[in-house]
Amino acid sequence: MNSEVRNGDRVQTVREFFEQWDAYDCIIENNYMFHREIYAAVRLQLQKRFPTSYTMLELGCGDASCTAKAVLGTPLRHYLGNDLSSSALQIATRNMAAVPCKQDFKQGDLYEFIKTIDRRFEVILAGFSMHHLPAERKSKLLGRCRNILNHDGILLILDPIRRIDETRQEFLQRWWENCDAAWAKVPPANRALFREHIFAHDYPETLQSMEKLARDNGFTRTKLLYLDPPQLHGLLLVEIKT
Ligand SMILES: C[S@@+](CC[C@H](N)C(=O)[O-])C[C@H]1O[C@@H](n2cnc3c(N)ncnc32)[C@H](O)[C@@H]1O
Repeated sequence: MNSEVRNGDRVQTVREFFEQWDAYDCIIENNYMFHREIYAAVRLQLQKRFPTSYTMLELGCGDASCTAKAVLGTPLRHYLGNDLSSSALQIATRNMAAVPCKQDFKQGDLYEFIKTIDRRFEVILAGFSMHHLPAERKSKLLGRCRNILNHDGILLILDPIRRIDETRQEFLQRWWENCDAAWAKVPPANRALFREHIFAHDYPETLQSMEKLARDNGFTRTKLLYLDPPQLHGLLLVEIKT
């Protein structure tokens, strides 16, 4: 099987997982991945950097529930949300309705979708979506993000973050132990589904490897803006500082 076919299969399996939005919604609702704190840090950046106007592309927006709260009351002019999951996008349309700006939603694989974008944005937000790509694809995606960001633009990556001395397997095991102990309101059968999904599809980077991928693609500054208490998930700012 060639790698394009394998990638197609992988994307299809991820899409099927996130078509069942209720399971992931329970994680957001109970703040098991520290969405509240992470998106509060996103909001702070938007308020600080874009006091008058900005546009946003969101890659893997899911139901956009946290994004809608983060951008509400900020001078967002145009929002373009992308996701694989049609059910998540349907909910995203409803959640974003409270935000007064031009809005578009596009279903599809973010890796392919970004190639079709022919305009620039001040903000690109990738919320727990980039870690589904292996490093080589992350690198190409970062290059494409770089090409469609305005000169004062920022890329905000919310993702699982491996410790510098941790292998993928060790990170996933630590992640699973935390999840099994802390996700009390997620039924065991759903926890098992998450375990299967994570072990099959998650490729978290370390801060250092993500920084290198960003630098290789023309970005000059990366900064960790938030790391959650179990040190599993964080918010990374990536930009071109002139
Ligand atoms: C863990 S959820 C995160 C949702 C939301 N951004 C958040 O911060 O909670 C990952 C989302 O990324 C989407 N996703 C995963 N791989 C994708 C891809 N290749 N293209 C587009 N969306 C993708 C999934 O459908 C899902 O909605």
